[in-house]
Amino acid sequence: MTQATATRSTIELPQNNPTERLGELMPAEGENGVFAESWYPVCLSSELKKGELRSETFLDGKIIVFRGEDGVARAMSAYCPHLGADLGVGAVVGNNVQCAFHRWEFDGDGVCAKTGIGDPAPKRARLFKFPTQEVYGVVWVFNGEKPHWEIPSFEVPDDKIVYRTYRFPDYFNCDPWVFAANTPDMQHFKVVHKTEFATEDPHAGVDWDDWGFRYKVIAAHQQGIPIEWTVGIRGTTLFWQEGPYGDFWLGGMVGFGLPVVGKHEAFAILALEDVGDSKLIDERFDIVEALMHRTVGEDKDILNTIHYRPGALTKGDTTLSRYLDFLRSYPRSHISGPFIK
Ligand code: FES
Ligand SMILES: [Fe+2]
Repeated sequence: MTQATATRSTIELPQNNPTERLGELMPAEGENGVFAESWYPVCLSSELKKGELRSETFLDGKIIVFRGEDGVARAMSAYCPHLGADLGVGAVVGNNVQCAFHRWEFDGDGVCAKTGIGDPAPKRARLFKFPTQEVYGVVWVFNGEKPHWEIPSFEVPDDKIVYRTYRFPDYFNCDPWVFAANTPDMQHFKVVHKTEFATEDPHAGVDWDDWGFRYKVIAAHQQGIPIEWTVGIRGTTLFWQEGPYGDFWLGGMVGFGLPVVGKHEAFAILALEDVGDSKLIDERFDIVEALMHRTVGEDKDILNTIHYRPGALTKGDTTLSRYLDFLRSYPRSHISGPFIK
């Protein structure tokens, strides 16, 4: 039992309360109906066998992703230009996609190839076709007609690596660029991920180009494991890292999909050098998968609750600040909008 000694405390009065919030809001995805012109992951290659079609949400609308007999993955708007049926409940026929409603078929360019009852195919009936690419087991779709940048390759050649892919089960409660902005955020590497930099912050060594940046982190990671990673971002949606983790090379990419406004979906690739010893490779994958889940776990609650609003930035935020400017002027559009909604 507790016993109070006074019936009430003295009143605490606020002093020096802020009168205005610092900083300006960042452009949100979907604001004014536009989205960053970036490559977005939409599914894993392993989720799309030959002859299969998937319905995916993308940019707050619906698309289909299908793989015809030729083995090529294609992504197009989901709503049929006949009467608007969702092609996501249709089927793949050869290299065409067939609508479930009146069985019209659309070819690999999204052009109506035939109708179901023999009426001539109206050539003006077209689906919106997105630039689509498969890289390291992930199907990527570009928001726009012509990609601005390429999905990178690891420094270790493709025939010398083994990789695994992951689709995270839950959406994250923020825009893709919010996760991307963790990479230029050197303060967060130190305090959230307990990475002890072996050098001064490498702001001056960040290698920028029109569509992103890379820089080298030489540090002791958790448990004192030495790392020499090159980390970087392409556009607003692709994190990329590679270099030694202890005594082996590790490559990683995380793509941030954009299914609905205000959220993103993470797809990851982990790559190791093919040392020709499957037991050793499995052991290393166990280690780096645990590292990936631990790292994402450390970021998760922050990402799911943040109202990202750059306020009082400090010297440690030099590279982050430049990336935020990059985001502010990043091209945004939504030419597929009328077809995927
Ligand atoms: S709505 Fe698709 S064929 Fe008629
Ligand atoms: Fe992080």
